[in-house]
Amino acid sequence: MVLNRIVAVSRESEVQQLARRIGSEIFAADNIAEAFDIIRTANPDLIIIDANIGLCDVRQFLDIHLTQNKNPENVPVVVIDCGQTGTDSSGEFLRMGACDYINGPRDYHRLELIAAQIKNKSQTETENSGKNLKDFFAEDCAAAASIVGLSKAILNNLKMIKLVAASRCNPVLIVGETGTGKELAAKAIHNIRHPREPFVAVNCAALTANLLESELFGHAKGSFTSADSEKTGLMELAGSGTIFLDEISEMPIDLQAKILRVLQEKTFRKVGGIKNITCNATIIASSNRNLQKEAQANRFRLDLYYRLNICPVIIPPLRAHNRRDDISLLAQYFLRTSTLCPDKKGKITSLTKLALEALQKHDWPGNVRELRNVIERAILLETTDKIGLGSILINPTDCNELAATPSAGHVREFSLAKAEQQLIGRALKETGWQKTHAAALLGITRATLYAKVKQYNLKKNSNSDPTDELTEAENELQTEEFSSFSPEPAEVI
Ligand SMILES: Nc1ncnc2c1ncn2[C@@H]1O[C@H](COP(=O)(O)OP(=O)(O)O)[C@@H](O)[C@H]1O
Ligand SMILES: [Mg+2]
Repeated sequence: MVLNRIVAVSRESEVQQLARRIGSEIFAADNIAEAFDIIRTANPDLIIIDANIGLCDVRQFLDIHLTQNKNPENVPVVVIDCGQTGTDSSGEFLRMGACDYINGPRDYHRLELIAAQIKNKSQTETENSGKNLKDFFAEDCAAAASIVGLSKAILNNLKMIKLVAASRCNPVLIVGETGTGKELAAKAIHNIRHPREPFVAVNCAALTANLLESELFGHAKGSFTSADSEKTGLMELAGSGTIFLDEISEMPIDLQAKILRVLQEKTFRKVGGIKNITCNATIIASSNRNLQKEAQANRFRLDLYYRLNICPVIIPPLRAHNRRDDISLLAQYFLRTSTLCPDKKGKITSLTKLALEALQKHDWPGNVRELRNVIERAILLETTDKIGLGSILINPTDCNELAATPSAGHVREFSLAKAEQQLIGRALKETGWQKTHAAALLGITRATLYAKVKQYNLKKNSNSDPTDELTEAENELQTEEFSSFSPEPAEVI
């Protein structure tokens, strides 16, 4: 076995067998749409595509793959022709961007050679750049590949995720503070259990009781005043995939009863409907509250709690003693993978000892999400090739911290208000005035960002009327506040 993960795009078992000889985990895809889904989550070392799926499909696959992944981590693609195409298109495949071409199973040794080269290259990269991206992930975590961590806690979580995913356990409960990676864990379970089926997430805290009910279950035509047509609910849309009930503790108690019924009977009805609809989906619920305590306080149904709490995945906070080891690993991972400042990509390669110590000391109430924001902010501020202590702003709105930050664009020369104005201006500029992203970077809510934009009269481009921007900003904020469905409410860290 030379490589860890290979995606084999083929309907032929012999292609998969061939892949199995050089890779420890093989992900098979029947067509290119499936292949892209799998590639996104499996993080493969090599893609083998069968010429037999059709020249057009191979061309389209290479086109999309190469344009989407124009970076050094581009996964190499080998085209294999088992002879059914009847033509020799090897040259054409190479021109299309394939890294190599092999002539069916008899060319196995060539494939072995390609695998050895890929392995070699990744080892050299590891030595040169300190860390290869794959080293951030716990070994063997395949479909859960985007879960970074090598601490005992995360390894235990991964073990549990795999056990639960391989079982028929339904529902699954994931518990942890905000930002600990509950949604990521849910996606990992989904990816292991049924990667090709839909993953549908619904935030139970973001909707009113009535809206949540009709979002989840759908409604029949005329079931209430504005129901002028029939609506399919998310539960039905999840099909045989996963429905992720995020923040289930916030679900209104009446609706909890309906969910309990779905869990017990595996059927539900649309709002105002009479037909029973079967629910085939895996139901994964998450909570950042202690559901047992919620039940004791009569805010959560005890019977639903027991039904959910079969094999819970409990993700500890980042500050827990058995997870602290992951802080520096996650920091380096976010440094390597951030796409926030394309100009700086690959230029900032590490963090200084002092910066790492500052990260280790912090308590991370916003957990991994907060850490990611701190690193992104540091990338934005840093002007050298190493993130220094000066660029680590853990509480950016804390004036003392801001004043003491030497590398935040020479802010010491200015008043605090000027420094804040400058920092906000930079965040907006670097994010192309994407306010949600800028607010997250600054560690403030969108509402605070709008207030500051107004206070400092910041404008996207100096020719425009300042009031235009504010009206747009205010409108945007209102739409967000009153919109009926928001996948994740703005979070304050
Ligand atoms: N172990 C981890 N490895 C890499 N990224 C993580 C990890 N845990 C969380 N994240 C990232 O942190 C952010 C918050 O994670 P999320 O799953 O949404 O947390 P939660 O649902 O618990 O609030 C996301 O951007 C996620 O990708
Ligand atoms: Mg979440």
